Amino acid sequence: MSEMLRFPDGFLWGTATASYQIEGAVDEDGRGPSIWDTFCHTPGKVFHGDTGDVACDHYHRWEEDVALMAQLGVNSYRMSVAWPRVQPEGSGEYNQSGIDFYRRLLDSLVEHGIAPVVTLYHWDLPQALQDLGGWTSRDTSKRFADYAYEVVSALGERVRLWITLNEPWVSSHLGYGEGEHAPGTADLSSAIRASHHLLLGHGLAAKAVRSVMAPPSSLGITLNLAPTRPASNSDADAEAALRVDGYANRWFLGPLFKGTYPKDLADLFHPVTGDSHVHAGDLETIATPIDFLGVNYYFCHTVADSHGAPQPGTAPFGPAVLRAVGRPDAAVPVTGRGWPVQPDGLTEILVRLRHEYGPVPIYLTENGAAFHDYVDPDGAVKDPERVDYLESHLKAAHAAISAGVDLRGYFCWTFTDNFEWAAGYSQRFGLIWVDFKTQERILKTSASWYAEVARRNGLEIGRRL
Ligand code: FCB
Repeated sequence: MSEMLRFPDGFLWGTATASYQIEGAVDEDGRGPSIWDTFCHTPGKVFHGDTGDVACDHYHRWEEDVALMAQLGVNSYRMSVAWPRVQPEGSGEYNQSGIDFYRRLLDSLVEHGIAPVVTLYHWDLPQALQDLGGWTSRDTSKRFADYAYEVVSALGERVRLWITLNEPWVSSHLGYGEGEHAPGTADLSSAIRASHHLLLGHGLAAKAVRSVMAPPSSLGITLNLAPTRPASNSDADAEAALRVDGYANRWFLGPLFKGTYPKDLADLFHPVTGDSHVHAGDLETIATPIDFLGVNYYFCHTVADSHGAPQPGTAPFGPAVLRAVGRPDAAVPVTGRGWPVQPDGLTEILVRLRHEYGPVPIYLTENGAAFHDYVDPDGAVKDPERVDYLESHLKAAHAAISAGVDLRGYFCWTFTDNFEWAAGYSQRFGLIWVDFKTQERILKTSASWYAEVARRNGLEIGRRL
């Protein structure tokens, strides 16, 4: 008899997407430009010169996509609202066509029995706000809270979970610190300021939308979290791992749950940027209570101390002040994206959240993998590696539930293959294959496998279709 792992009643099973990665239609019906439009059209920034101009053409094909979702039988769907579609300049006038697009989409999801989970900011900042400094400017936090209030007022009752921000670490450090993402700034001081203004924007938005949000809607934020592991048992590597943990995890968890930045990192960052951007009352605003935490989990960080000098065969991990290098364990298998497959890290981070930050309800708002998928001569897309990946991570999620974690939902990244940021269309994370020339969609084996898990609200280990 194979093992059957049941999930709690009412568990949400869905897929997750983001507006810029799927919608296309970047200059239709009044949408304004975003920082990702600008970044993609800057030569050399995105692999192969790819852009989100068309992406999955979801803006025109959303009915077909909702029908596919209904066919899968999932009971939830995480998507994001494109700020520049709803408010083209990021301040002032709202665009009724943009709001109507999301209203139609959300209504259709609800009619199909699919509970919407909506992220208000998944990285597509209106370019007009970037022209004024973007997230390095304190004013952007206020603009975000105004926009959030407007969207929740207009669409509120249709949405089960509102998520203010997706992965503020990525927005701030990859966007402003390393320049790998839009807007492409490479300056640690800007990244630290941006991280504060993102958190402040979250807190201001959380306060603002409370007055227009009614049950059963609830509100949270999504962080990308990763256990950090020392590459050896030396004290120096253990300390490097602690610094990386501060940078990647505690810098965001601390303000949100404890109302303070972690002291070790604040001390490290202080000489870089000071603290004049942190005003009295900001941390109380950021720590405004939330109803749940969204966690995106992909892998762990394995790091060593750089001893302040380049280490042969390794790359620096994060900014130089961390004095850390990434040294992944060569024995750990990797996905097509080169990301290590470490399901045990998922159990570890969830259990840690329970112990260090209390019994907050958690949704796994993203988890998934890219592999080198292809269409067989018979027209099928078979992706056994993805099925193995999902099975091992769902098993790890279940272990966390057994250990007392209040986990309430799982959202596979992602619904269809899509525009994978700086990697363009080179990485296919979808449960559904997309032919980007014809926009044909083909369900991969993993889609049917996942649909079965969702329908049974249980995972039968070893079961293959
Ligand atoms: C996450 C992003 C998501 C997607 C996955 C692979 O960091 O939130 O949009 O790109 O990675």
